[in-house]
Amino acid sequence: MMNSGSPERVILCVVGARPNFVKIAPILSALRTEGSLRAYLCHTGQHYDPELNDSFFRDLDIPSPDSRLEVGSGSHAIQTAEIMRRFEPVLDACRPAALLVVGDVNSTLATALVAAKKGVPVVHVEAGLRSFDRTMPEEINRILTDQLSDLLFVTEPVALDNLAREGIPASRVRLVGNVMIDALHRQIAMATPPSQLLEQQGGVPPDGYAVLTLHRPSNVDDPAVLRPLLEAIRTIGRQLPVVFPVHPRTKARLEAAGLLDRLASPEFRVLPPVGYLDILGLVRDARLVLTDSGGLQEETTALGIPCLTLRDNTERPITLSEGTSTLVGNRPEAIAAAYDDFRRTGGKRGRVPALWDGRAAERIAAELAAWLGAPLAGKHPSSP
Ligand code: UD1
Repeated sequence: MMNSGSPERVILCVVGARPNFVKIAPILSALRTEGSLRAYLCHTGQHYDPELNDSFFRDLDIPSPDSRLEVGSGSHAIQTAEIMRRFEPVLDACRPAALLVVGDVNSTLATALVAAKKGVPVVHVEAGLRSFDRTMPEEINRILTDQLSDLLFVTEPVALDNLAREGIPASRVRLVGNVMIDALHRQIAMATPPSQLLEQQGGVPPDGYAVLTLHRPSNVDDPAVLRPLLEAIRTIGRQLPVVFPVHPRTKARLEAAGLLDRLASPEFRVLPPVGYLDILGLVRDARLVLTDSGGLQEETTALGIPCLTLRDNTERPITLSEGTSTLVGNRPEAIAAAYDDFRRTGGKRGRVPALWDGRAAERIAAELAAWLGAPLAGKHPSSP
């Protein structure tokens, strides 16, 4: 349903892929509370499987999107182009005061580019993160989206330096904290007990378990990388069973490489992609997380769970310097050494970074209202 309020106060919010849903939920809720701005939600359809969509909308209490572009999968060029083509008429009809995009997926960049060329202000939430690895599609999306943005909200101080180095004026940038942790604060009490999720898998292992997630092209696309990676994790599973919710992209790659049946072993507890409340419950009660996901690096830091990050770099360095994450890469020897270290020391303890306090979205809504010149609800009750 199109908003009927004054068009200059509509914030067009875009989501496309699973991590976007988690980030947008607290923002939509904060915009509702703030009162002077109205959200219009557009879903590009970059992720379309019910497992990656419906349960997230339900678990996070996200309203049904006002428009759906249904772009589906494709090469980066096709997917990005298709989002741009289908998004333009939505933007034209909505005539928002600003476009708000989150994260670093193709939907983020594609819609920011359309808006910037039409003179619609672009607001980027989770700006300024850099892995300095341009082989990652997300790094290209981050750099370009930030260049196109008029107002940039960042989660950690290093992002301020990254943006300054790229010539983005400090006056456009606000350090507000982490909306992903807002979502975690809101939902953790409702997290699914792992006993429920692992019922069909023989229950929760008595001595605990590790959680594994994998989906980055650099880990799953090449069987010569994926096979030894999986073997290294299977070795860990002999001591600490590994609960593995498998992303559709990873499942397709495992199938193609003939590796899917390797998971049918006592070291693994394989699950389909799980919902938000499910992963929260699994991670909260895990002894260890192994992952290449950006979001889980942050969530483990917030929950105080040791995390072995299966990447050579991270755009979220505060999870290493203050949090519970260790950068391990994907070589079997490095994974084995990091696991030994975890067994010896119990893993990194860490602390929760400043402003990861569950109130980032509230700050975003207040800053956005002030920036657009909209009166803050409650402060100017007589304003138009
Ligand atoms: C995308 C994001 C990544 C994010 C991840 C979270 C980009 C460049 N990548 O990666 O940053 O961490 O989402 O999940 O935007 N597929 C399905 N069902 C779906 C969607 C995808 O089966 O609903 C399969 C298709 O085979 C598709 C492949 O996954 O070709 C890749 O999907 P895509 O959206 O391009 O990237 P992700 O790997 O999901």
